[in-house]
Amino acid sequence: MMKIPLIKPYITKEIEEGVIKVLRSGYLTEGPVTRELQSRLKDFLNVDHCLAVTSATTGLEVALRALNIGEGDEVIVPDYTYPATASVVSIVGAKAVIVDVNKEDMLINYDEIEKNITDSTKAIIPVSLFGAPLDYTRLNEIREKYNLKIVEDAACSIGAVYKGVKVGNHADITVFSLHPRKFITTGEGGIVTTNNKEWAEWIDSYKHFGMDMTGASREGIHFSNIGTNYKLTNIQAAVGLGQLGVIDELLSRRIELANNYKKLVNQVDGISLPQVLNPQPNCQHSFQTYVVYVEDRDRVMKEMRAKGIEVQIGSYSLHMHKAYDGSHPDIEVKGDLKNSAWCYNHALALPLYNDLTFEQQEEVINELKAIL
Ligand SMILES: Cc1ncc(COP(=O)(O)O)c(C=O)c1O
Repeated sequence: MMKIPLIKPYITKEIEEGVIKVLRSGYLTEGPVTRELQSRLKDFLNVDHCLAVTSATTGLEVALRALNIGEGDEVIVPDYTYPATASVVSIVGAKAVIVDVNKEDMLINYDEIEKNITDSTKAIIPVSLFGAPLDYTRLNEIREKYNLKIVEDAACSIGAVYKGVKVGNHADITVFSLHPRKFITTGEGGIVTTNNKEWAEWIDSYKHFGMDMTGASREGIHFSNIGTNYKLTNIQAAVGLGQLGVIDELLSRRIELANNYKKLVNQVDGISLPQVLNPQPNCQHSFQTYVVYVEDRDRVMKEMRAKGIEVQIGSYSLHMHKAYDGSHPDIEVKGDLKNSAWCYNHALALPLYNDLTFEQQEEVINELKAIL
């Protein structure tokens, strides 16, 4: 057991009671609690449509399917991300074209996107990694110029804001994760948002075995599409719903802790920070993960863990893994991807959770300083 863990899900007595209530109700599959979670997140994100699914990975898959992306199509993704961003492209039968990120902010490089657009490119999956909002001024220029769709992998970004508008509204379809590394969690789970009614209805049907979910025919149950089962259970939704009641407080606390880390880190030689859009007006990082850059990261990580402080790498450099090195026919690797490799080797995620104290943060940084 670590003295200071990397994460701690926010689970209160009320949340436990909410789950027990569902268990005692006997209604365990997707139902009113899931719909309540969808509705509350829809209000929080200020989006037109919000659908719960089994994970961000299945959410990304249904987003691509809703946009009719499949065989013969190319989708541009960043190299520095979780493998799901690219694997879903292959799962729907299209080709993932992997491009480099920026060393400064770890986000997809917009010039690299443009450089690698071909006649077959249908979409981009940019990732608002760790909760960092993407530059939609630039992304929208690309979307319009090349007539592409954007599916944002916002697995980490509930609560992030770009130019006064919450993440969830900027892409054609946005997908969030409710995995326990995220500050609102259902154990496993995902959320898909869009402001397009047609896509939302298609996704709702697809995740319910292809059932017609609109209006009167729902009573009679009619299957109008070929679909699957990506429903989120009432049990899982009860966990997330309990956290949603205090989402603003949870988010403010993360931002407060992140600002404190920044203050502490600024005084230490050998640690540098990724750039974030926050200094721009009306942009907010949601700090799902607080990442710093250090030299000799693997040694530092090992020694921090030996001290009882759980730290972790940031994310993965996909091309350094066999499945994504370009040998698979559905994966194309573009350029040297050296910034992504650099991020993979230097990024270190620090402990961050709601009841982490300022004293514990000082301990984390003091240990880091001593090790460096
Ligand atoms: C950027 C990114 N995309 C996708 C995923 C997959 O999310 P899930 O575990 O909900 O499928 C993750 C998970 O951490 C992620 O960080």
